[in-house]
Amino acid sequence: MEKKLTFLGIETSCDETAAAVIQENNKGTANILSNVVSSQIEKHKEFGGVVPEIAARSHVENIDIIINQAFKESKISLNEIDGVAATAGPGLIVCLTVGLNIAKSIATFAKKPFIAVNHLEGHALSPGLQNKIKFPYLLLLISGGHSQYLIVEDVNKYKQLGTTIDDALGEAFDKTSKMLKFGYPGGPYIEKFSRLGNKNFFKLPEPIINKAGCNLSFAGLKTAVLREAKKIKNDTKLKYDLAASFQYTINNILYKKTKEAMKQFLNKTSLENCDFVVAGGVASNKSIRKNLENLAKEKKFNPIFPDIKFCGDNAAMIAWAGIKRFRKKLLSDINFSAKSRWPLDEEAPYMKGPGLKL
Ligand code: KG4
Ligand code: ZN
Repeated sequence: MEKKLTFLGIETSCDETAAAVIQENNKGTANILSNVVSSQIEKHKEFGGVVPEIAARSHVENIDIIINQAFKESKISLNEIDGVAATAGPGLIVCLTVGLNIAKSIATFAKKPFIAVNHLEGHALSPGLQNKIKFPYLLLLISGGHSQYLIVEDVNKYKQLGTTIDDALGEAFDKTSKMLKFGYPGGPYIEKFSRLGNKNFFKLPEPIINKAGCNLSFAGLKTAVLREAKKIKNDTKLKYDLAASFQYTINNILYKKTKEAMKQFLNKTSLENCDFVVAGGVASNKSIRKNLENLAKEKKFNPIFPDIKFCGDNAAMIAWAGIKRFRKKLLSDINFSAKSRWPLDEEAPYMKGPGLKL
């Protein structure tokens, strides 16, 4: 029988310092031996967003403690692991470098293979930690920095169908929450207060909804929310109504654009009954999960959502991507440098900035 691989994963691309030890199992998924995530939310809260200097410093202060804890909880020693994987991009270079350098040092010292992982590939493959998924599948990746529809053809093989032309979806949640003075990060606040509001109270725009295929845009929606937020000032009921209307509009946009992405996926693959995966921090939103689960069933896709603990940034997904790449012999050079920009589909057109034609 083939040896089951055990990997250490390290993640420091943004404001979570994380380390995990995971092992392949007989079901083709993963045994999570440890999954330690230290969030820096308290440190960034007063600024309403991530401050790179503070984030990097906090990673430096915590990374060795977190890695030690991950080993301790896993009851696995350094000698017993088969490789070390670390996020190498995209993200803040000052943050990425912390995890990347310590991963290189551990791999060199212990004479283990080293794998530089694309954070987005970590999210893209994350449902495989708990589900046996089959390639190709349709992926909606919605996080604080990215919003994309992709065909995941295999490990390291992605075709982008659509992306945001301005803000990422998580960013839209965070900015809306900031305008309503709820708190940071915004997603969980908007989700919570939406339950107390009337989703039909405000009519908000759905930018580029009938054009540009399954590309997304949230900047116009954000401006409309800002306009309404200024008018309602601190009226609590209206704030809840605006949160609910915003989330309802997002759900309408995702429903229509996902339908288009599903159509394109079917046209390109000619396959039916494929998996539809929603991953990334925003995928923890229960109303978005329900909405897209219904659509998937309607369109005969099999919906798969990672557990909430694997939606947000974590190192288990990085270790898993490391194992998957190792199995494909995609090892990295020890001199691999951190990358701030690193698209999964290198051939996809860059959709932001001037000159964009829809
Ligand atoms: O994947 P993630 O942890 O980090 C990035 O790679 O960006 O995603 C973080 C984003 C934040 O913008 C946060 O507000 C959003 O995910 N988020 C949510 C929810 N929980 C986190 N958005 C909507 N509803 C939620 N429940
Ligand atoms: Zn992420």
